[in-house]
Amino acid sequence: MSNPDTILVTGGAGFIGSHTVVELLQAGYAVVALDNFANAKPSVISRICTLAGRDFTFVEGDVRDPGCMAALFRDHPIQTVIHFAGLKAVGESTRVPLTYYQNNVTGTLNLLEAMRGAGCRNLVFSSSATVYGDPAEVPIREDSPLSATNPYGRSKLMIEEICRDLAKSEPGWRIALLRYFNPVGAHPSGLLGEDPQGVPNNLMPYLLQVASGHRPHLEVFGQDYPTPDGTGVRDYLHVVDLALGHLAALKALPRIEGAIPINLGTGRGYSVLEMIQAMEKVMGHPIPWQFGPRRPGDIALCYANPDRAHTMLGWRAERDLMAMCSDGLTWIKSNSSLNSALA
Ligand code: NAD
Ligand code: UD1
Repeated sequence: MSNPDTILVTGGAGFIGSHTVVELLQAGYAVVALDNFANAKPSVISRICTLAGRDFTFVEGDVRDPGCMAALFRDHPIQTVIHFAGLKAVGESTRVPLTYYQNNVTGTLNLLEAMRGAGCRNLVFSSSATVYGDPAEVPIREDSPLSATNPYGRSKLMIEEICRDLAKSEPGWRIALLRYFNPVGAHPSGLLGEDPQGVPNNLMPYLLQVASGHRPHLEVFGQDYPTPDGTGVRDYLHVVDLALGHLAALKALPRIEGAIPINLGTGRGYSVLEMIQAMEKVMGHPIPWQFGPRRPGDIALCYANPDRAHTMLGWRAERDLMAMCSDGLTWIKSNSSLNSALA
């Protein structure tokens, strides 16, 4: 790339953001990454440079700070924004909803104002399959009914609506609303991965902590769902595939008009028991688990119809369940900060 595009990546030190910055740098883009380290560690920045073999601009700052956002656009020739910054814990969002609306909704409003001020109208936004609520049917298409059952999900739905209203009000906006299914796994190097604070809420991080001996057993939430084996079914997606989905969306933005939702998933659902079996296969020994009650608010089945991502972005997920499990294991075994925190 002789004259590389400059991409602003908000939340660039986070789980999905860090993997995406590596892929952007390797593809030749110039990157300006912003993060306030609310849920990330500064050491991620040097790890990204090591993996990419290149440097990038990192700014410690907050998307809620209008001065910071205006300065970013003043100081850098930003063509496109990939907006990951936000809070994402569903349970926490029910306890501190205003914090979630401030971070996710107000933060995005600030970003959009700064983009408008700078004449930058290209955005790739981290939405979520949570905007489908309890889906009427699977696989889920982008035109399925939308609903939200908690403040986190509502913040994503509100941001989608704000983007749609903005794109309708002014020509020129090109916005990809990427609805992720269940991102898991880690960078195969073991240098980047998900580092949840406290007890993990989500299946894969919990399963990895059991598999690596940091927790005694996994509790399987519910055994009587209307699914083939009675446990919940989800569309698990390798985080490197997800990162590559963002590069595909960047390249497709010139062909997008307005705000378009696009599912990023594999299209294949796996049950909780299938996930345990996959991890056992990678480990070569059984993993302790037991059935417990259903988790309130959980749904039975959730997996994507990924056709739009293929036709509009030319993107398909390529990494299988074995790669998701083994890369996750490599990460948890080599991440000394996590191991010392848990020890
Ligand atoms: P993450 O918490 O690892 O990354 C988010 C990053 O944003 C963190 O590094 C955090 O420090 C930063 N951040 C938070 N608030 C900020 C603020 N006000 N200003 C600047 N930086 C801020 O989460 P992730 O898993 O990488 O998720 C990225 C995005 O994708 C989030 O918007 C999340 O809601 C969305 N998403 C995630 C999942 C998932 O399962 N991981 C699924 C669907 C959607
Ligand atoms: C989570 C989020 C949701 C988000 C989605 C994709 C919560 C409550 N919901 O839901 O908003 O859109 O990820 O990122 O965090 N399970 C167990 N034992 C465990 C943990 C989970 O059996 O210890 C089961 C769950 O019941 C579910 C499956 O594993 O059937 C996956 O759970 P999880 O990883 O939390 O993902 P989602 O339920 O899809």
